[in-house]
Amino acid sequence: MPVKARVTVAPAAGLEPLADYLAGAGQGTAAPPAVIAVPVRSPDDASPGPVPGAGASSLDGYLGVSAAQVVASAELTGRAGETTQTVIRLGAEACAVLFLGVGDASPEAMRRAGAALARRLPAGQTAVTTAVLDEPDEAVEAFTEGLLLGSYQFTMKSADPPAAEPGEIRLLLAGPASRAALVERAGTVAGAVALARDLANTPSMIKTPEWLADEAATVAAEHGLSSRIWREAELAAGGFGGLLGVGSGSAHPPRLIQLSYQPAQADRHVVLIGKGITFDSGGLSLKPNDGMKTMKTDMAAGAAVIGAMSALGRLGVRARVTGLVPAAENMPSGTAMRVGDVLRHYGGKTVEVLNTDAEGRLVLADALAYAHDALDPDLVVDLATLTGAARVALGTSIAALYATDDDLAAALLDAGTASGERLWRMPLVEDYRGGLDSPVADLANMARAGGGAGSIDAALFLREFTGGRAWAHLDIAGAARAASDDGENTKGATGFGARLLLRWLAGSPVGP
Ligand code: BES
Ligand code: MN
Ligand code: ZN
Repeated sequence: MPVKARVTVAPAAGLEPLADYLAGAGQGTAAPPAVIAVPVRSPDDASPGPVPGAGASSLDGYLGVSAAQVVASAELTGRAGETTQTVIRLGAEACAVLFLGVGDASPEAMRRAGAALARRLPAGQTAVTTAVLDEPDEAVEAFTEGLLLGSYQFTMKSADPPAAEPGEIRLLLAGPASRAALVERAGTVAGAVALARDLANTPSMIKTPEWLADEAATVAAEHGLSSRIWREAELAAGGFGGLLGVGSGSAHPPRLIQLSYQPAQADRHVVLIGKGITFDSGGLSLKPNDGMKTMKTDMAAGAAVIGAMSALGRLGVRARVTGLVPAAENMPSGTAMRVGDVLRHYGGKTVEVLNTDAEGRLVLADALAYAHDALDPDLVVDLATLTGAARVALGTSIAALYATDDDLAAALLDAGTASGERLWRMPLVEDYRGGLDSPVADLANMARAGGGAGSIDAALFLREFTGGRAWAHLDIAGAARAASDDGENTKGATGFGARLLLRWLAGSPVGP
């Protein structure tokens, strides 16, 4: 798991914890850090200019001028993630002092600041920071997430140096010793995200449906989940015509991945479903080459579900949770499904395929119908890189939320805001449902007229398979990938969904 940093806690007692820490390092009683990071807040009502925060004044003697003078002369703004660096002498060593913008110290700003610090830490080195010294629990957790996720890397370059020792970031932390648990908790969440990123960043030549299923089964075995992998014969016997249809063009047959988390005395049963298209060529409705370049991540939602499932036990989630990932490769070939074919889904509904590139909804339909019919869930949430239209509407920082239940929608919106994976609720427009009618089947897999509301049409299609249960759908086509390193996201797969699902299921950072 390519997270290149670990986060440790140094309990901070006394009035000047950084001064004490540096005195120890200066006298050789503690190893001097390569980097000392102190926070700089952006201006607010209380102060008209950016202010160096906790611990900064302890550096005045080393800097030769006050930290406040440095902030002024370097024209710092305190914007979250802003960094500027100078060097001090500590004992016999040179040591970098990093002025780290933390904005308004909101969780979002702290996540961004943490990622910025991680990116400034030389490989294998140690940093110490007062950035969260006196900050509230949410800030500690967010900053730690940023540190870990900002240091995530995925590479298959042949010129890679042999895996370097991970860097270490020591958080000076005031308050009760129990605050260290926040760091551990953030580490669990970041581990889930990193797992999701790893799966989604893996090239499709490796990541066949069978490979993904094997990985999921391994994750399950390591994290106290039970798993069931449905193979072709079982899928055929069960009537999973959507998943089999989408997978029929590929040399690598489809799988249905089913993971179960069953705590004692569960209060409710939640089913999470994640689209697991290991590569989306479009099928016979072939995508142009540019459209295929990112399609190894068309199972990013499935990866987020697998990642989140891996952390449920450690976070003490009290709900029973079943994860379903319908996994298939969408390829054109002589055995591929055709335009005009009619598929029979789990539960019997028939669908006319008007475009083989609208494949995500076909595999999700089976999973939704199976969840409704066989799992008796209280709540169903599906995630999918479902439509280019969702990305056009909301861009890459926000995902589209659809829901048939207002309480569920509100809870997911809250979890999204708190976790930094934002959602925007979209309408299930009843007028558009008729556009999915088919003359030969119960439903068509896209609106015949075209040119309509692509993401809404897809959500309306999925709703037909929910059996009227409380259901939410997240179209994460934009948010699943980042075009460049930005805040806690690294170029490529973001793991979007894992943090928000865990926030929703596990509640606040201080625990239930
Ligand atoms: N996986 C794509 C959606 C997608 C597009 C995700 C771009 C991320 C970036 C999905 O399977 C798809 O091809 N959707 C079609 C649906 C259309 C044919 C009705 C689309 O959005 O164009
Ligand atoms: Mn497609
Ligand atoms: Zn797709």
